[in-house]
Amino acid sequence: MTEVKKGRILSGMRPTGKLHLGHLSVVESWAAQQNDYECFYFIADWHALTTQFDDTSAIREAGRQMTIDWLAAGLDPEKSPIFRQSDIKTHAELYLLFSMMTPLSWLERVPTYKDQVRQFGEQGKDITTHGFLGYPLLMAVDILIYLADYVPVGEDQLPHLEFAREMVRRFNYLYNCDVLKEPQALLAKIKMLPGVDNRKMSKSYNNYISITAEPEEIKERCIQMITDPARIRKTDLGHPDICTVYAYHGFYNAEEQPDIACRCKAGEIGCFACKARLQQKLNEFIAPIRERRRQLEENPARIDEILAAGAEVAKKESEKTMEAVRGVMKI
Ligand code: TRP
Ligand code: SF4
Repeated sequence: MTEVKKGRILSGMRPTGKLHLGHLSVVESWAAQQNDYECFYFIADWHALTTQFDDTSAIREAGRQMTIDWLAAGLDPEKSPIFRQSDIKTHAELYLLFSMMTPLSWLERVPTYKDQVRQFGEQGKDITTHGFLGYPLLMAVDILIYLADYVPVGEDQLPHLEFAREMVRRFNYLYNCDVLKEPQALLAKIKMLPGVDNRKMSKSYNNYISITAEPEEIKERCIQMITDPARIRKTDLGHPDICTVYAYHGFYNAEEQPDIACRCKAGEIGCFACKARLQQKLNEFIAPIRERRRQLEENPARIDEILAAGAEVAKKESEKTMEAVRGVMKI
């Protein structure tokens, strides 16, 4: 008996290399959807080029490392094809066809565009290229070429999804067809894990914990975590709400978190002990992921096989859409 799935999900990430705990909740939510939906997950390596066209040397390996982390975090290639965007050349074909009918003004008004150009400009990098302006268009292609029903995205990516939906309406209207399908956003209610310095967790801030961190790294990161600055002695009355360690207990030691709050406020637990407990809990959480990564690393050829098998499925699916697209465009 074939299972009935609730529709098709597609999502991807730019290859940033090994994942940190801030990414993990996203990949875990991808993994959780594998049984209920037909899922496609991909490495957006062409998207990486939009900002890294001048130094492309790290992109391929970063994609591999990210794939290993995806698998360690629970993506199952037997259920969900995992592939590289650059392996599926039909994305480039649809991107070209779309480029003929996309009004420039639609791209220019995507809110992240001007922001990003300014941010990169401040770092002395000019990304006012055709490719970067086309970022949302390429993303629309990624989604529409698989006729995806749902796209799990963060709030920040909603304008991109809306853009993709507009492209569907334009295309179907222009060629008087219903070849393309409007995707819906799947907004995951993911609570953001802060970095150890309480800013957003990010590689560029060096405030992250990787999802396969060794015990030494976990220990060091726990030591670095910002606590309530008013607490010097154990007996000082603490304010857990402003403490990063406390926030982490909420993620990795939820059971004990209320008790920790009481004891912190009453001056009955020291920050050192509190961090030591978190370190233990983080270790318990990360150990199995670390172990799965170790096993995956023993067989590097397997990763290539997984990406090749994923690409096979993606090619076939995207080719079906392209045939329909070429058909209605008579090209
Ligand atoms: N923009 C996404 C990121 O920042 C990557 C991405 C490219 C994507 N194409 C997509 C995500 C299609 C979802 C669907 O990582
Ligand atoms: Fe933070 Fe724990 Fe110290 Fe309280 S005791 S300030 S929760 S580290």
